[in-house]
Amino acid sequence: MNTTQQIIEKSNRYIAGGVVSLNRKTDLPIVFVKAQGSRLKDAEGKEYLDYHAAFAPHLLGHNHPKINAAVAHAMEECWSLVGSGTTPWEARLAELLCDSVPNLDLVQIFNSGSEATANAIRLARAFTGKDHVVMPIGGYNGWHDEVGRAVMPINVGSRVSAGEYPFIPISAGIPESTKQRLHIVNFNDLESVEAMFKKYPVACLITEPVLQNIGVVPPAPGYLEGLRALCDVHGVVLIFDEVKTGFRCALSGYQSICGVKPDLSVFGKAVANGWPLALIGGKREIMELFAETDLRKRVLVAGTYNGHPASVAAAIATLEILRTEGFYQDLESRSARLHRGLTDIFGNRAVISRNGSAFCAYFMNHIPCDWHDVLENHDFDFDKRYRLALIKCGIYHFPLPCKQGSVSAAHTDSDIDRTLELTREVMATL
Ligand SMILES: Cc1ncc(COP(=O)(O)O)c(C=O)c1O
Repeated sequence: MNTTQQIIEKSNRYIAGGVVSLNRKTDLPIVFVKAQGSRLKDAEGKEYLDYHAAFAPHLLGHNHPKINAAVAHAMEECWSLVGSGTTPWEARLAELLCDSVPNLDLVQIFNSGSEATANAIRLARAFTGKDHVVMPIGGYNGWHDEVGRAVMPINVGSRVSAGEYPFIPISAGIPESTKQRLHIVNFNDLESVEAMFKKYPVACLITEPVLQNIGVVPPAPGYLEGLRALCDVHGVVLIFDEVKTGFRCALSGYQSICGVKPDLSVFGKAVANGWPLALIGGKREIMELFAETDLRKRVLVAGTYNGHPASVAAAIATLEILRTEGFYQDLESRSARLHRGLTDIFGNRAVISRNGSAFCAYFMNHIPCDWHDVLENHDFDFDKRYRLALIKCGIYHFPLPCKQGSVSAAHTDSDIDRTLELTREVMATL
């Protein structure tokens, strides 16, 4: 077995940047080599209770036996990527998806959330004949140019409302012309959204309904309803990016909790419990642009690996588990146990914001309403030290302040109690 240092050195030698997603880069000398249920094991044999869940897909825990068996079964049955026509398994998955999320009249299946958001924006542009896109600061919708603003910009300047922020790119290489049609406003700020809709030819507003890439920042009462009303008035397609919230907080997504119907939704992550699969779904009249016979109006859907049988088998098996009686109640009871325990430990040093099994400790005195609120009030240094101290004791949170924690169905009550015990010890030392 290679040692941690040998593995890191080899990756640095052959992989540009040393990791295959920059979002995964940490300065910790840890390389994970195994994962099972709620546990991770590193190359030195040390075990951790995992609350990172690979940025949230592992809702059932790692290497769930039923998901692994479903993928193995698919291979034994000779399901393959044939790439001609449809398949029985993708038809079954689409049926399950439309049945699980009532707002999906039709779906399309991709490999990653970024592909799905790119296609959702393209659909919205084709449907409206307009080009501009509005999105909040503190949201993440993937790595591509059309959503490529910095997620946690520290040099964002003071609060602007009603109005927009200068575009701070997430990457070099995004064309100036693209930036001109992307408008960045605060979350929970309807005045700014309205100002953008009045000023520009806006095709869509894309947002996570709960911001879960800067922890867990919930929508204010009436905010999502307000977005729906503004989109209706101005002919703008409302896209809910449920890549993180979808299937994790409820079978039918956060849209079933807030009661607001988006025109299009995007899902990924938990839908296949860690296998690469994402989807778009929504209103028939928009989704049918994928099947338009007039080629000038048709939106192309394409991808060699779309509907890959291994991921589709994983997604079908995942949905079958999520649809069993009591699944979400059990997950909620585990998540609430952690929430209660952490609240008790933190006292007035932190607040816990939670959306089902997704949670975040903010070292401030209230649950934030947007990125400015986090930036101005959260103790980032303390958060970093807190995460590193927990990791040292075997509780793995991603070592970056404000990153969402995820409880999985594999976490037992005793895992939660152990987490609380160690958190209490850690907090006493900080
Ligand atoms: C809300 C949201 N949308 C889209 C994406 C992009 O998904 P992917 O990384 O699968 O491309 C992410 C990834 O973290 C996400 O959190």
